[in-house]
Amino acid sequence: MSESKKEEIKVIEWLGDRVRLLDQTRLPRDEVYLETDRYQDIASAIAELKIRGAPAIGVAGAYGVALGALGIEAKSGEGFQKKLLKVIKDIGSTRPTARNLFQALERMQRVAESTKAVGDIKQALIDEALKIHRETLESDLKLSELGSALIRDGWTVLTHCNTGVLATAGYGTALGVIKKAAEQGKKIEVIATETRPLLQGARLTAWELQRAGIPFHLITDSMAGYFMKQGKINCVIVGADRIAANGDTANKIGTYTLAVLAHEHGIPFYVAAPTTTIDMSIASGDEIPIEERKPDEVTCFRGVCTTPDECDALNPAFDVTPNRYITAIITERGIIRKPYDRHLAKFDFSGKRIEAD
Ligand code: MRU
Repeated sequence: MSESKKEEIKVIEWLGDRVRLLDQTRLPRDEVYLETDRYQDIASAIAELKIRGAPAIGVAGAYGVALGALGIEAKSGEGFQKKLLKVIKDIGSTRPTARNLFQALERMQRVAESTKAVGDIKQALIDEALKIHRETLESDLKLSELGSALIRDGWTVLTHCNTGVLATAGYGTALGVIKKAAEQGKKIEVIATETRPLLQGARLTAWELQRAGIPFHLITDSMAGYFMKQGKINCVIVGADRIAANGDTANKIGTYTLAVLAHEHGIPFYVAAPTTTIDMSIASGDEIPIEERKPDEVTCFRGVCTTPDECDALNPAFDVTPNRYITAIITERGIIRKPYDRHLAKFDFSGKRIEAD
């Protein structure tokens, strides 16, 4: 059944004085929703990956700030701002890599600081969070449309992690491009990596592709080179958590390996992300903070351990792909190509959409 005929996936929703979100750690077996009026629950949901994916945690962070603001009792504007800063700091300390979270938090803070009457701040923050959510969907739709032009009829596309509705609370980025190409009638087949250790590919991308009716095969991460060598992959398309001013891109661990493999086999490697993922304040990927998660995500899965007791493990959640391996970066404002430092420096982030050469 096609996506349009299925019930819409409500990843996160503002319900007036509380937030409802789909617990992604329970997918695909159970569709369980969490409802809360506490910003601390939103912060935990982000940290525990109940909601995940760079744009989606930006949206969740913004709603979290709105919830936090609703709970503040303060007599003066100064008192309010002080308490709000603590809310923003708590939410910002959940996951360090995705730029979108900080971009959204900075936006919320600017709105709070520029709203003169204390009585108006709470509503202004709710409005801003809803706007961030709306804009995330709009960006997804635009970049998916633009990116779909790069995908040819009959192609097999490899994607990593989950970059669909679940990851953006909108339409999707890399998976959005794939879905758009399929909607246009192109015959697309997807190779989805399972994405160790938390299986965002196997659990979430497989679930979304099934719902969208797009044919796909699931592979383990280590099978990618095998299929590339066989000439079975026409392009790779992934999302991003943070893109530096020179185009270096942080994304789910394993992305770098895929990019090097794609380069070796002459396969185009595309990054699809909204401009809210681009961080022009950092010159290169060396400055992107990489989240280290607990070793037990590697040694165990859902409470079942697969290693000897007390086995140590390393668990960086992201890696950085150097710009030279990236064929193009697809954004809602245009498709950016090399040299990324020059093209990003003159890129119009706020005005009308441009086609960067
Ligand atoms: O740890 P996760 O599941 O939040 O990681 C998600 C990714 O790495 C995605 O590829 C990225 O956030 C882009 S989502 C459109």
